[in-house]
Amino acid sequence: MSRSRRRRIYEGKAKILFEGPEPGTLVQYFKDDATAFNNQKKGTITGKGVLNNRISEFLMERLAEIGIPTHFVRRLNMREQLVKEVEIIPVEVMIRNVAAGTLTKRFNIEEGTPLPRTIVEYAYKNDALGDPQVSEEHITAFGWATTQDLDDMVHLSLRINDFLQGLFRGVGLKLVDFKLEFGRLWENEEMKIVLADEISPDCCRLWDIKTNEKMDKDRFRRDLGKVEEAYQEVARRLGVLPEAGPVDIEGPKSMQ
Ligand code: C5P
Repeated sequence: MSRSRRRRIYEGKAKILFEGPEPGTLVQYFKDDATAFNNQKKGTITGKGVLNNRISEFLMERLAEIGIPTHFVRRLNMREQLVKEVEIIPVEVMIRNVAAGTLTKRFNIEEGTPLPRTIVEYAYKNDALGDPQVSEEHITAFGWATTQDLDDMVHLSLRINDFLQGLFRGVGLKLVDFKLEFGRLWENEEMKIVLADEISPDCCRLWDIKTNEKMDKDRFRRDLGKVEEAYQEVARRLGVLPEAGPVDIEGPKSMQ
């Protein structure tokens, strides 16, 4: 089936979700489009979709190996992966190990200051409102997630943080902060919270351990240059850089 004839379920800023080949599945397509500051800055990062598809595949597979439930099923081709259809919880979980980004502005803390302990924050996933920061009170009072859902999300997020910090440290990168999204998956009448969306340099801050050089979307946000190169370097260090580079060679037609 051609891409254009597939039913588009949702189009976000960096990804498109298409109807999957069987019920309960979706195809997640990674675009090169990049946005920042709630859509005020727009651009493209050539090859980003190809690299994020690989990086997210790699990280979700490693997380699944340590027992983190995720929506990831398998990669289909250069830009697409098959995922389980979940009900996305409209809450972004932000995990911070080192001060950066909006935290430095809010509290006037110097970027790069190690935090006394890992800080968990939440935002309400709503583009029109600019993803406002919210507390557990808002989340439960407005019914976006139950206290139990939130407990599961935080527990999983902290395990993911511990694991990913070690994984990235092993390839010379510091996991400064990142954002996660979760969804509800029903299996045999039971609901479980699973990791959804993606994990990539679009939603993580990654700094080179030795030089503190930024290797993530901050290079785009702040016009630091060498944006494509940074994404490629992350993929290379993780051992998932496609041999032909992040170009669009026609992927296997696994859409039937
Ligand atoms: O911008 P801020 O400092 O609050 O971002 C914290 C972390 O969450 C960063 O790694 C950023 O890339 C990620 N984030 C994201 N999507 C958002 C907001 C933040 O991926 N809508």
